Amino acid sequence: MKVAVIGGTGLIGSQVVKNLNAAGHQAVPHSHSTGVDVVSGQGLDAAVGGADVVVNTTNSPTFDADSMAFFQSSMDNLLASARKGGVGHIVVLSIVGVDRVPELDYYRAKVLQENILAAGPVPYSIVRATQFMEFMDDVLSWTTDGDTVRLPATPIQPIAAKDVADAVAEVAVGAPLNGIRNIAGPETFTLDELGRMTLSRKGDNRSVVTDPTAGMFAVVKGDVLTDPHARLAPTRYEDWLS
Ligand SMILES: NC(=O)c1ccc[n+]([C@@H]2O[C@H](COP(=O)([O-])OP(=O)(O)OC[C@H]3O[C@@H](n4cnc5c(N)ncnc54)[C@H](OP(=O)(O)O)[C@@H]3O)[C@@H](O)[C@H]2O)c1
Repeated sequence: MKVAVIGGTGLIGSQVVKNLNAAGHQAVPHSHSTGVDVVSGQGLDAAVGGADVVVNTTNSPTFDADSMAFFQSSMDNLLASARKGGVGHIVVLSIVGVDRVPELDYYRAKVLQENILAAGPVPYSIVRATQFMEFMDDVLSWTTDGDTVRLPATPIQPIAAKDVADAVAEVAVGAPLNGIRNIAGPETFTLDELGRMTLSRKGDNRSVVTDPTAGMFAVVKGDVLTDPHARLAPTRYEDWLS
C-alpha cells in the first residue's frame, strides 16, 4: 500500500513510516522540513497524489488560539489535495476525550480538525490517544518554579509513542473506520503521582506539590479511557522509564 505520512518527521509520524515500511508498504514522510506546508498547501498535491492512504500526524506550533487556524487550514488543504489525488482513506491522530474540554483552545482546535475530516469527501479514521509518555517532561516544565512542580491529581493513562505509532499504522492499512478508535496505556495514575515517579526515576531534585489549579491538566478532568472493554496498549510506564 502507498501511504503518505504528513507530519512523518515528527515523534509519532516517523515511527508510523518505519512500521509501515517494515511491514512491506511504501510509506513516505512529508513535512515542513521536506518542503510540504499543510497551512499554505504548498507541495501537498504532489505529496498525497497517488497514495492509497494519507496519515496526518502534523501538530500546530502553538497550543493557543492560533492552533484553530492551523487545524482549519491544514485540514481544508489536505482534504482538497486528497480528493484531487484519489486518496481512499485519511487517518488523523487526535486525543482521547478531546470533546470534553471546551475550555482549552487547543482541544477545541483538535475537535475542529476531527469535524472537518468527518464532514469531508474522503473515507476516514480518527485514532484518539491519551497523553504520550514522551510528553511528561514538557508537562513538568510548564509548572516548574525553582525546585517545585505544581500538578493536579488528574487521572492520566499514559501511552508510549511506540504503541501509538503501532495503532496508527494498523488503522492506516485497515478499512476506514469512518469513526473513532480510542487507545491508551495499560495503567492509570494521577498526574501528581506520575510527576513524582518521573522525577525520582530520573534523579531530578524537583518536588511535586499537588495543586488542583495548576497547568493545562487542571481543566482536563481525566485523560483516561472509560470503556472497560477498550483495547489497551502494552507498555507500562515503569518499563518505559527504564
Ligand atoms: N502529546 C500528546 O500527549 C498527544 C496525545 C494525543 C494526541 N496527540 C496528537 O498527536 C499528533 C502528533 O504529535 P507529535 O508529538 O508526533 O508531533 P511532533 O513530534 O511535534 O511532529 C509534528 C509534525 O508536524 C509537522 N508539521 C508542523 N507544521 C507543519 C506544516 N505547517 N506543514 C507540514 N508539516 C508540519 C512537523 O514537521 P517539521 O518537523 O518538519 O516541522 C512534524 O513532522 C498531534 O496532532 C497531537 O495533537 C498528542
